[in-house]
Amino acid sequence: MALQLGDEAPDFTADSTDGPIHFHQWLGSSWGVLFSHPKDFTPVCTTELGRVSALKPEFDKRGVKVAGLSVDTLESHQKWVGDIQETQGHALNFPLLADPDKKVANLYGMIHPNASDTATVRSVFVIGPDKKIKLTLTYPASTGRNFDELLRVIDSLQLTAKHKVATPVDWKHGDDVIIVPSVSDADAKIQHPGGWKTLKPYLRVVPQPK
Ligand code: BEZ
Repeated sequence: MALQLGDEAPDFTADSTDGPIHFHQWLGSSWGVLFSHPKDFTPVCTTELGRVSALKPEFDKRGVKVAGLSVDTLESHQKWVGDIQETQGHALNFPLLADPDKKVANLYGMIHPNASDTATVRSVFVIGPDKKIKLTLTYPASTGRNFDELLRVIDSLQLTAKHKVATPVDWKHGDDVIIVPSVSDADAKIQHPGGWKTLKPYLRVVPQPK
């Protein structure tokens, strides 16, 4: 069965462009993003890996470790990374996992036989410090992902984890947030001493906590 939100992220060891990785140990107490792409030497993947390299400081700021994966060999990855720097202007600065025997791809359900029996689709897993899966995304091979959106979701997940607030439609960092329904008004008074706006008893809006 496909991995669900709240499941433990499967552990594994794999070779990567940064050396062998024992996944849980590598994550430590950080948040993590594991994302797959279909194949080396493909155009959309090349742009995605360049963009994630450019955004690496943003992931670092949020305490998030990022790893990419495709079902190619380490040797192939090593040949390809030069193209990423040359065409995208950013050298790969995070580990790209080699998975030629599809061990990790199968553990995470990254192969979708309706799309391809042999290649990974564009899966994304956000993993919390508790090693539980907090978000899954599946994009087709032909659509590059929006990694700014992924950072936005991570900001939301981290606010929920820390402050028990949810984020409304189209929320951006700095916008007002919503006190989650499971927090009583009595507890909300402690957590938000500056007060909040009650639009409905179930819709309580508060400035984003710092
Ligand atoms: C790509 O990564 O560029 C790609 C892969 C498979 C189909 C279409 C595009």
